[in-house]
Amino acid sequence: MLTAIYPGSFDPITNGHLDVIGRASRLADRLVVGVLLNANKNPLFPIEERVELTREAVRQYPNIEVTHFDGLLVEFAEREQARIIVRGIRAISDYEFELQMALMNRRLKPDLETVFLMASEHHSFVSSRIIKEVARLGGDVRDMVPAHVDARLRARFQRSES
Ligand code: PNS
Repeated sequence: MLTAIYPGSFDPITNGHLDVIGRASRLADRLVVGVLLNANKNPLFPIEERVELTREAVRQYPNIEVTHFDGLLVEFAEREQARIIVRGIRAISDYEFELQMALMNRRLKPDLETVFLMASEHHSFVSSRIIKEVARLGGDVRDMVPAHVDARLRARFQRSES
């Protein structure tokens, strides 16, 4: 049984993340989505809410679990008995940081493989950071996040449905 983990901050989960999750769920028998606690990144949504929003977004997949983690990713992978780390690549600008992370993780745990999946070009500009900024300033992000995340962003930034 092949277990893969898909780690991230998921603050909040986007349709770009879901695109990668859909692809990864077809490659692994079991996919564990790991939401990083990220105490020092000052997330918009607390960890419990990020996990809940992510769980709701992947409800239709029988082979996906969502949990949170803190500390080293390689240790989380070991606890979950995962052999693969999945990361999504949008543009070449993602590559340098992702390569650095993958090589560091390989140094820490050589038998854990990082696999990069390309999100659909439809989502290549979507990031949680830019979505939060647009939502905060009153822009429409409905195409870029699941409906329940859009609702939560609206509530957070006190906007009504238009
Ligand atoms: O969605 P993000 O914020 O790009 O995800 C980054 C993440 C969670 C994959 C990365 O920050 C991480 O793995 N953090 C755990 C700490 C760790 O293991 N750091 C060393 C990896 S180089």
